[in-house]
Amino acid sequence: MSNYHIKHLEEYYQVYRKSVREPENFWEEVAEEHFLWYKKWDNVLSWDFKKPEVKWFEGAKLNITVNCIDRHLTTNADKTAILFEPNNPEEAAEHITYKQLHKRVCQFANVLKDKGVAKGDRVCIYLPMIPELAIATLACARIGAVHSVVFAGFSATALATRINDSDCKMVITSDGSYRGAKTIDLKGIVDEALNECPCVDSVLVVKRINSDINMKAGRDEWVQPLLENASKDCNPEVMDAEDPLFILYTSGSTGMPKGMVHTTAGYMVYTAYTFKNVFQYKEGDVYWCTADIGWITGHSYIVYGPLANGATTVMFEGVPSYPDFGRFWDIVEKHKVNQFYTAPTAIRALAKEGLEVVEKYNLSSLKVLGSVGEPINEEAWHWYNDNIGKKQSPIVDTWWQTETGGIMITPIPFATPTKPTYATLPFPGIQPALMDEEGQELTKNQVTGRLCIKFPWPSMARTIWGNHQRYKDTYFSAFENKYFTGDGALRDEVGYYRITGRVDDVIIVSGHNLGTAPIEDAVNEHPAVAESAIVGFPHDIKGNALYGYVILKDVGEGRVHDNLRKEINQIITEHIGPIAKLDKIQFTKGLPKTRSGKIMRRILRKIASNDTSNLGDTSTLLNPEVVQDIMDNVL
Ligand code: WT7
Repeated sequence: MSNYHIKHLEEYYQVYRKSVREPENFWEEVAEEHFLWYKKWDNVLSWDFKKPEVKWFEGAKLNITVNCIDRHLTTNADKTAILFEPNNPEEAAEHITYKQLHKRVCQFANVLKDKGVAKGDRVCIYLPMIPELAIATLACARIGAVHSVVFAGFSATALATRINDSDCKMVITSDGSYRGAKTIDLKGIVDEALNECPCVDSVLVVKRINSDINMKAGRDEWVQPLLENASKDCNPEVMDAEDPLFILYTSGSTGMPKGMVHTTAGYMVYTAYTFKNVFQYKEGDVYWCTADIGWITGHSYIVYGPLANGATTVMFEGVPSYPDFGRFWDIVEKHKVNQFYTAPTAIRALAKEGLEVVEKYNLSSLKVLGSVGEPINEEAWHWYNDNIGKKQSPIVDTWWQTETGGIMITPIPFATPTKPTYATLPFPGIQPALMDEEGQELTKNQVTGRLCIKFPWPSMARTIWGNHQRYKDTYFSAFENKYFTGDGALRDEVGYYRITGRVDDVIIVSGHNLGTAPIEDAVNEHPAVAESAIVGFPHDIKGNALYGYVILKDVGEGRVHDNLRKEINQIITEHIGPIAKLDKIQFTKGLPKTRSGKIMRRILRKIASNDTSNLGDTSTLLNPEVVQDIMDNVL
């Protein structure tokens, strides 16, 4: 039996049981069967969740780009690797074959080398969804440089924080980006960020929108002319299994974003294996994930997972609403997409537009539909199932995280019977546990608890860049010997998991992970603000939206609150990006606090969500009287 491709439910259970009973044999077989190694491992796994330290395939030597590109050249050189669909539907789509991808990655890698980038150096990539984003990412991996892709919707301040945290010596960007009918001045944002980044000595600029931008002499260079003159071959750097492949930042509930470090071999094996099974990719299929490569979903399931399987992966530059709300379905029809992977927030936004924009298109190529990023509500699930999948395409509700590197809990299409709002069963190799508040594992079914993982899996992040202590504190301290996800979940009578949402101060807005603390820090920068607390509340389209409670320094007469609201959101946009703007801002005299001075967010969340029937005992608060006042003035 091959473990690599699971086709029915019994096979899933067999493979799953093996993955738990003999995890090392199991992963060794997957790694041996399907990848190219310069040298195999000395040891499949060593781990200690107390330290914490996890190593997979130690001693092995490989290069991930050889597995994602070179090895397909003998059989699939002329197959489309990346199918680029531009923002403007009138502009022709670009089919980049494996052979062309090889050439372009090698050329880009040679340019990086010429510019002095070497193995282990960090390179920040701040690009829109154009082919160069995937190519630059792979070029870094080719030469062993550690890429740090920053989503091109982040502000200059957020970009600078991330560049400095990992000491990047180079930034790769473009003159600008297209976003629907708008253009965005990316290079201007980079210039502003770099005023604060002494570590960066070179900037490579991709020409995309032909805008007139500043090029700083000695620092900035257009990349296209350099690529034209670069050699088409570049020997892959031989990497150790545990060499870092990339850093990707994710918000934490406190302070600085966390630079999650993913390493080479385990990440490759796990993303490739999950891609194959979760999407049931078959030779000749066209696969499309609508995420941005700036998030983990794009890293794992636009770039590495699909390419490691020799797949055709669609990269879409634009937005679902341009030129109209039929764009996604237009692309599905045009490229005969077989697997389609998107976020519940997009599904809800599209469902709102009615069926006329769906029915115009032929969606019969679709075989598997995916969902990721936040819990999918029942209504959206049915809309997706009925109108996009026509009840023929199973929905895979995939639960995972930036930290997990790959999909953790998911149905396997055509094997696992789906159930609306349930991510269903753990993927082979994943051992979930639900914990109660006292730290005891709930071993029965029909329980709700905090979701942990008890055993290492190959693509787990190994550390937080520059702060191993924080990695330990955040993920390995809440429950002994377990990785804590930060999510709550329930397990039903047959063992299916349903993710109920974050149990910490992270809020998922439109599928984006936002920590409350950095937003509060930004709000508090406003000269009129004394203190603030931010919570989430349910929102029809975004899943959650942000509600800010703000105490002003001077409650005196005459302040124009609407202006203040605009100014506060402006500061948030500058510090983090427009995705973190507050939907509602309530000015208040006080915030409910415990006697030790901690803000009781639970109460604030309930008030913001209009759910005040059971606020719990507020009498032990330091200032119980503010609760009524806040309720009286809720927006
Ligand atoms: C958080 C991780 C995984 C890539 C995109 C987000 C939430 C993610 C699901 C799902 C319910 C989900 C969790 C998780 N989440 N997928 N299918 N059902 N919740 O990665 O930004 O690291 O966010 O997203 O709360 O902890 P991320």
